[in-house]
Amino acid sequence: MKNYKIAILAGDGIGPEITAEAVKILKLVEERNDVSFELTEALFGACAYFATGDAFPKETIEICDAADAILKGPIGLSHEESKNIPIDKQPERGALLPMRRRYNTYANFRPVSLPKELAHFSPLKAEIIGEGIDIVIVRELVGGLYFGKKEMGVDENGQRYVKETLEYTEAQIRQIMLKAFELSSSRKKVLHNIHKSNVLKSSVLWNEIMEEVAKGYPDVKVINLLVDAAATYLCLKPTEFDVMVMENMFGDILSDQAGGILGSLGLMPSACIGDDKAYYEPSHGSAPDIAGKNIANPYSMIGSVAMMLENSFDMQEEAKNVWAAMQGVFADGFSTADLSKPGAGVNMIGTVEFGDKVVEKLSKMPRV
Ligand code: IPM
Ligand code: MG
Repeated sequence: MKNYKIAILAGDGIGPEITAEAVKILKLVEERNDVSFELTEALFGACAYFATGDAFPKETIEICDAADAILKGPIGLSHEESKNIPIDKQPERGALLPMRRRYNTYANFRPVSLPKELAHFSPLKAEIIGEGIDIVIVRELVGGLYFGKKEMGVDENGQRYVKETLEYTEAQIRQIMLKAFELSSSRKKVLHNIHKSNVLKSSVLWNEIMEEVAKGYPDVKVINLLVDAAATYLCLKPTEFDVMVMENMFGDILSDQAGGILGSLGLMPSACIGDDKAYYEPSHGSAPDIAGKNIANPYSMIGSVAMMLENSFDMQEEAKNVWAAMQGVFADGFSTADLSKPGAGVNMIGTVEFGDKVVEKLSKMPRV
């Protein structure tokens, strides 16, 4: 029997509630398969900062280092509350970016999936959604503006200034391109390369490397698209996209937009993959305004479990079952509060009920 160690970082805000539902699914998967999971919880984010003075404390680092995979909930405080923490210790800069850097999780896969049965959740018209949306955003995760040199100060004229640099090496671009081409080869073989080479030199190099890597994948059709135009087409023609590859900051923004076209960021799980370690997290924030109310949608967190099964444990079939179970709950006419307004002809359910319904569906599915 395979035995995997999983670090569970529930995070802040709605993190603990949605993580609890994801853990239910992990336990059920363990029951249904010849596999055992050793789950170790650790503090990460603002909760860790308040308990230890560090948003990514040493003890958590050790647990993550020893884990085969990490399941991470959303982190962060409201804009106002964040001000109580020194900027470099805030959960994003003090925990999340160091985690991405430590494990060099350069490839971030963000599925944007809306089967046509769930089209009613989207703000887009049914004719735009057609047979359904099925995109994977491949976002470079450890380079660009996020990790470039930063400087803040006061210049000789007494003006406050800031400098942030967008840096990429050729090797960094090549490794994310290879991931995108590999994924595209296994799907529809249409790869949208998102760039801004009419302005940014980083995009000029990005596109050069893309052309070099493309030579190794003659079956993949590459479509180059400026990032601003991509934002428009995501709304107007989302079904024309299959795999999209882009640098870090573009990926941050377009993936939130993609959540918008689905109807909620609550439908956006993600996998952050490095050569030696991977962690899995929702693409959205910790939504402190709705924390503790049993209304958060745990789909993104349970979807992150499905991505973990697929990418870290080679359990593709069971992962498909988890996706199908979640989508089945929605297709049965249920909705969480982020996706529908009361009276929209759906049965509203809370965080725990959604998790329970996924458990119920998954337990009825044939074992792999
Ligand atoms: C995301 C988030 C993070 C990012 C934040 C929390 C730093 O928005 O994963 O998309 O900007 O990468
Ligand atoms: Mg983001």
